[in-house]
Amino acid sequence: MTQRRILVTSALPYANGHIHIGHLVEYIQTDIWVRFQKLRGNQCVYLCADDTHGTAIMIRARKEGRSEEALIAEMRDAHIRDFSEFDIEFDNYGSTNSDENRELCAQFWKSIRDAGLVKEKEIEQLFDPEEGTFLADRFVRGTCPKCGAADQPGDNCSKCAATYSPADLKDPKSTLSGATPEIRTATHLFIELEQLHEFLDEWTQSGDHLQAEVANYLKGHFLGDPLRDWDISRPAPYFGFEIPDSPGNFWYVWFDAPIGYMASTKQWCDANGEDFDKWWRDEETEIHHFIGKDITYFHTLFWPGMLKSAGFNLPTKVHIHGFLTVGGEKMSKSQGTFVMASTYRNHLNPAWLRYYYAAKLGSRLDDLDLNLEELVAKVNSDLVGKLVNIASRSAKFVGGQSLADSYPEDGGLFEAAAAKADDIAAAYERCDYSGAMREIMALADAANRYVEEAQPWTLKKDPEKQGEVQAVCSVALNLFRQLVVYLSPVLPRLAEQTVELLNVPIEKWDDVKTPLIGTPVSKFQHMMKRVTEEQVTAMIEESKAENEAAESEAAGDQWNDGPEALAAEPMSEECTIDDFVKVDLRVARIVSASDVPEADKLLALTLSLGGGETRNVFAGIKAAYKPEDLIGRLVVCVANLKPRKMRFGTSEGMVCASGSGGEEVFLLSPDEGAVPGQRVH
Ligand code: 2FM
Ligand code: ZN
Repeated sequence: MTQRRILVTSALPYANGHIHIGHLVEYIQTDIWVRFQKLRGNQCVYLCADDTHGTAIMIRARKEGRSEEALIAEMRDAHIRDFSEFDIEFDNYGSTNSDENRELCAQFWKSIRDAGLVKEKEIEQLFDPEEGTFLADRFVRGTCPKCGAADQPGDNCSKCAATYSPADLKDPKSTLSGATPEIRTATHLFIELEQLHEFLDEWTQSGDHLQAEVANYLKGHFLGDPLRDWDISRPAPYFGFEIPDSPGNFWYVWFDAPIGYMASTKQWCDANGEDFDKWWRDEETEIHHFIGKDITYFHTLFWPGMLKSAGFNLPTKVHIHGFLTVGGEKMSKSQGTFVMASTYRNHLNPAWLRYYYAAKLGSRLDDLDLNLEELVAKVNSDLVGKLVNIASRSAKFVGGQSLADSYPEDGGLFEAAAAKADDIAAAYERCDYSGAMREIMALADAANRYVEEAQPWTLKKDPEKQGEVQAVCSVALNLFRQLVVYLSPVLPRLAEQTVELLNVPIEKWDDVKTPLIGTPVSKFQHMMKRVTEEQVTAMIEESKAENEAAESEAAGDQWNDGPEALAAEPMSEECTIDDFVKVDLRVARIVSASDVPEADKLLALTLSLGGGETRNVFAGIKAAYKPEDLIGRLVVCVANLKPRKMRFGTSEGMVCASGSGGEEVFLLSPDEGAVPGQRVH
């Protein structure tokens, strides 16, 4: 088999928001595909970057009183952290605000100009005189010019579905400042996409590059009419790259964003001694973009048009997936189903989500529904009950010994599983992961039946049958390893644990074809826990609480003074500021709370300090609080208190509370907006 050269991208996430479980559908889908390709022995690179430009970033940075660069640097760190927690492994993670991107944009621009595709047009646009900026449609609201409905967005009416331009709205208001916008004219630069119509017809309809439903959608919605000119410039002020031959105008964020795929490639090439042109101009290279269906237009019309005009390779395939729903509905902030990656991670194992998504993802554009009960059931039954069970019921009888010196008779199980290699590979290749997972789990069932019948735990008791124990466990562990090889694109950590157990690396897809013989087996270490309903509930609760905090911050809530209690305790002795700062007080979120049945007053709390840092503490608040009411709330904790051994475990800190004890206890909460890990001064 010849080695393929494959460049893979996921959509570049915007730098103005954190990664959530909806985003993760795509990054997990792509990461699985890339890991699969690497395991097959192909040369595959996975590139991504933050998408940093545009009005939204500019406005947010202004509001927060800092530079755009500071904002995007912070978000980039957060994105990278979230991705790595979910084992999403990029070969390079760049930024659209990079020198490489600026240079490539200029190169594209020159080719597009030289090809005669650019034209200038004067357009009328609303301008916010208070913010000093032109307003994108979504930053204007007003009364519908057609039906008179109030508070409608700048481009279409939610009541009568009329479409119009923001300048037609009656009584328009800027959502940024509340000011009445002025109409100003400005020169914009447009790309005449219609000149590329014939090429785009051919490219989109060839049957090779797009899923059939996407090709049909483009044909039905866009390609039947002349293609509209694409407005690719924005006047100052705008956070982006200024257009070299059009001072005062900037490339619209969607012009430079996809070029960011190439800028990230350039960085990777420079760091690894690779030739950039080999990756973007040599037709031997395959280019695969993974995106969500909302950005189809940009990736199947604009982007191929831009690449064609600039003389680069065209995408081999654009893989488009549907949206995530939770429990059959749109992700909802108030219901706590709009779950951030970091919130998920505070409660649940990323491997579970990787497997669950894989089990649900097919090659089509259907939306993927995350049903949390189903996730619990599926992970517990497939991963813990079927898969890991094979190892745990066999490895413990041969831990510290070796596998049999020749592969024992197994009734053809190993051969049969090896014979599935091509089918399973084909399913991964076409992104039909749910098909692949089904095949793999059917093999796991067969392996489990084998262990069940052979009963190594019974054989182990008979001193005469130790040879049989070794034979049975050698079969079971080899069948287990085959499954892990097949699953390793989805579950890379489980693959690592298996390598530790069996002491032979997993390097290639064809590892499923040769059983291990005579190799040492390590002592079995626990591989994966079961998911509990409580963990899921705690995640949803934390997610709700985060949303409430964000909402009231946005609404600028006033806090109400309650009845004041006079401190009856006499003041402590004076202390210096140095004394005070020795105590490291931190904002923390209660991520789990449970009763300590043996103690009259105590609840056991787990506090999250953000960034994966947690403290287990025992707090004397049982009389005043129910555990379930505490999950998700913010508290102040003493984070550097020396851990104290108690009868029930070690307490690693304290939560701050006032009151005299018993029911008279009041936990201190920071104001809305505080985040876990912040120091209290
Ligand atoms: O839709 C989005 O989130 C965009 N930031 C995706 C950009 S993909 C690429 F073109 F840069
Ligand atoms: Zn209307």
